[in-house]
Amino acid sequence: MTHDHEPHGEGAQRAERIERRWATLSVGIVALLIVMAAFAGIHQATMPQPVLETADPRTLHIAGEFTEANLGSSLEPDGSVMVRAIGQQYSFTPACIVVPVGTPIAFRATSADVVHGFLIDGTNVNVMLVPGYVSTIATRFETTGERHMPCHEFCGTGHEGMWGRIRVVDKATFQEMATRHRRLSCVDQ
Ligand code: CUA
Repeated sequence: MTHDHEPHGEGAQRAERIERRWATLSVGIVALLIVMAAFAGIHQATMPQPVLETADPRTLHIAGEFTEANLGSSLEPDGSVMVRAIGQQYSFTPACIVVPVGTPIAFRATSADVVHGFLIDGTNVNVMLVPGYVSTIATRFETTGERHMPCHEFCGTGHEGMWGRIRVVDKATFQEMATRHRRLSCVDQ
């Protein structure tokens, strides 16, 4: 009962210093997390992505960017390549995607029915194709050759058989193909 006055003296000052240091640290951690979240959002690295683009699965084949004639790879004016694809029970269209090596590749894909997975072996490409929404992801292939693209979301009885291929070709071959067709795939080769 003799010690119920305000604490003072060296011990109290030291405690206050330590408290202030810890408070600063926790504010710093919160600030760091905010910066990380903002960075991931700006660079579209969050999953699901913060910018939602929609595509009506009922009219995919009739109108908009995912009509059949618009699927496949196209050479963009800036030299990059845009790939548009759809997943449906139980295949990808195109089933074989052709892209050039050493080139920025942007994928835009969606589903015509249920949720499918879009994954390319040995790359950062791993997104879900959700009906109603457009999934976008960018990558770059440093070596030529073929890669597998299995569906990795259970989508029904035919799920195990749902997979596609990516064929990475050299730049000159791709350029030459692009002069002949506006949209490229390797389905019939
Ligand atoms: Cu499509 Cu599993």
